[in-house]
Amino acid sequence: MSRLDSFLRRITAQRDCLNAAVELVRDVAGPVLELGLGNGRTFDHLRQQLPEREIFVFDRRVAAHPECVPDDDHMILGDFHDTLGTALERIGRPAALAHCDMGSGNSEADSRLARSVGSLLNPIMVAGGIVVSDQAMTVARWEALSLPPGTAPHRYHMWRVKD
Ligand SMILES: C[S@@+](CC[C@H](N)C(=O)[O-])C[C@H]1O[C@@H](n2cnc3c(N)ncnc32)[C@H](O)[C@@H]1O
Repeated sequence: MSRLDSFLRRITAQRDCLNAAVELVRDVAGPVLELGLGNGRTFDHLRQQLPEREIFVFDRRVAAHPECVPDDDHMILGDFHDTLGTALERIGRPAALAHCDMGSGNSEADSRLARSVGSLLNPIMVAGGIVVSDQAMTVARWEALSLPPGTAPHRYHMWRVKD
């Protein structure tokens, strides 16, 4: 498969999983968390799909398209390891949806990061909430969900947070 095809599969899986997650949290109260602002593409998608929700975005820096930068109250700057532990004070209540898009392409470093992010994110997710991620994670309280039909396997991941 060409790198272009591989990229398209990943991006399509990302969009389809986000759209599925948006439907799953329509009746779950709580803010949305976006871990990894990057260019701001998925933040922009989420704010269009869930215009009534507060979306808090985490990243160590702002390097997004100027039209896709959250306001200061919703941009939480710093390393995930430093910001997630105290995030509940900032976000006000446990989150209904978290999207983690944090891969660097270094699979060892990404797996390490996914392990720590899983344990830091878990306490700030509401029961019934949904986690969507570019990285595999194993958290006892999270139940893996099937991906939307047609999604290439292992390209993206979804879980429902149990009670
Ligand atoms: C793949 S990009 C996100 C792309 C974005 N979702 C989009 O659609 O444009 C990954 C982002 O995660 C951030 N990131 C990775 N590890 C991080 C960490 N430990 N703490 C804070 N930010 C981190 C990077 O700075 C980068 O902006």
